[in-house]
Amino acid sequence: MQWGSATLAFYGIGAAAVATSVAALRKRLELSQAKHPSLSGHARIARRLARFVPFYEYDAERFFCSDGAPHDIAVRRRVGFNRLSQTYRTRFAETIRASAEAAESLSDLQFTAAYRVPFQYRRLVRAHLPSASFVQASDGVTLTDLDGNRCYDLTGSYGVNLLGYDFYKDTIERGAARVRGLGPVLGSYHPLLAENAKMLKEISGLDEISFHMSGTEAVMQAVRLARYHTGRAHVVRFCGAYHGWWDDVQPGVGNPTTARQTYTLTEMSERALRVLRKRRNIACVLVNPLQALHPNLNPPSDSALINSGRSAHFDKTSYGKWLKELRAVCSARNIVLIFDEVFVGFRLAKGGAQEYFGVRADMVTYGKTLGGGLPVGVVCGHHDLMKRYHDDRPADICLARGTFNSHPYVMAAMNEFLHALKTPQIDTLYRDLDAVWNARADMLNARLATADLPVRVVNLSSIWTVCYTRPSRYNWMLQYYLRAEGLLLSWIGTGRLIFSLTYTDADFAAVVDRFLAAASAMQRYGWWWHNPALTDRAIKRTVLKEIIAERWARMRRAVFDDEQRPA
Ligand SMILES: Cc1ncc(COP(=O)(O)O)c(C=O)c1O
Repeated sequence: MQWGSATLAFYGIGAAAVATSVAALRKRLELSQAKHPSLSGHARIARRLARFVPFYEYDAERFFCSDGAPHDIAVRRRVGFNRLSQTYRTRFAETIRASAEAAESLSDLQFTAAYRVPFQYRRLVRAHLPSASFVQASDGVTLTDLDGNRCYDLTGSYGVNLLGYDFYKDTIERGAARVRGLGPVLGSYHPLLAENAKMLKEISGLDEISFHMSGTEAVMQAVRLARYHTGRAHVVRFCGAYHGWWDDVQPGVGNPTTARQTYTLTEMSERALRVLRKRRNIACVLVNPLQALHPNLNPPSDSALINSGRSAHFDKTSYGKWLKELRAVCSARNIVLIFDEVFVGFRLAKGGAQEYFGVRADMVTYGKTLGGGLPVGVVCGHHDLMKRYHDDRPADICLARGTFNSHPYVMAAMNEFLHALKTPQIDTLYRDLDAVWNARADMLNARLATADLPVRVVNLSSIWTVCYTRPSRYNWMLQYYLRAEGLLLSWIGTGRLIFSLTYTDADFAAVVDRFLAAASAMQRYGWWWHNPALTDRAIKRTVLKEIIAERWARMRRAVFDDEQRPA
């Protein structure tokens, strides 16, 4: 009898253990299924593979025919390349000289110069089409480089420039005048801070505000507070979404450490919702509404443009529906829903993505343009989420500091910005915003189609990305032709064009003409030569084979060197 109950107990424990591990396995499986099948969806694997990719490059011969183009096309490309290089060297002489000199001591410049094109082409491109990264003046929608060339600005200053550079110059100047009496005093506050908080509460529909020095810091603080109040550790972010460069929200390539408390899930996926419903360790979900333009894809940089596989498609209704589903699940599970509106805040609508998509978040982060031209990060949230201490546990606090947060000059520029939002002039810029920018994108696309050019733009309001309609290995060259035509892009090239709302129809028409001229030059010089066997998959396969061959060659060289070494 005794033996019988021991056996029963044994089997009972065994069954419980099996049930627990089956449940754990099922949860693990659900998590795996909720990850996006791409490498960006698998941060750790991506990081490991990134280490595996060796540097190799194309010589001056292969540079022009890496897609198997015939000799005459390669010659045409070479002629085009040399001409473009000559244009660069004469037109941007001083800008290039200054950039090269500064790059020696500026790691940021070195990095951005190196990551403009796929690495196999990097050296020759840098030698012949060097970076021209300095500008000396802005005026209207243009920037002037050190050689006096005026270019249309499509960089949008990383999204900061929403209302035109002249607006921000005024904002900063007027703001500085208002706080001059106090000067750069920190720790105590200028009264404008309180007014800003009030206006931000109205805009965000949330109860409390905290000020930080950058978007990255605002996101850090929002996540920290969510963890503090929920007592849970994990953060959900969606595949491809950028939330600044803090470790926990940037778990893949680019971060040398492993973000162990971050789940990267597929955006717009029922499987991701299932994970949110089941897991008890999730503190918050971060959404970057910019991803509506290309869900689950990384920020589109030309350095990753190895073929024409880049895609984008904005569907406001579907994305809005997704956000509503997410909202419902987060509410049901007490997970903090954070909209990271550092980029899109004020750009899609005055009330940001919350207003644009008709969904309310528990916390919202803002930054960029909100600083009125000066650096800033802001968190808005419900009272109960923003509180940094517990009344009943005085030692259990959630710390957030930052020497320069609430800087009077930033507060003053922000105040000017927020007041300007209420003026009729700015109101007109927001009128029919989407209709205006969609019509402009359509107009450019129609011109490109008529000219039979294999390039199109896709837009989320005034944020655009360039996609390519025919398989090619040389799409990244377009950024250099655009610059030669007087269109200034940021270092990620044609992946992102950001317009200020102050672009007039005439300004935009000039951009269209220049865009067409640049794309036509690409076509004329054979960069878009195409043969039916050249599919995007075939290009990917070629590059993969090259990488493996190079890796193999290196291993063999290492073994050979080892053997040659005297014992
Ligand atoms: C959505 C989003 N979050 C956070 C950040 C980080 O902001 P910052 O560069 O001010 O640190 C960015 C910057 O581009 C962003 O786009």
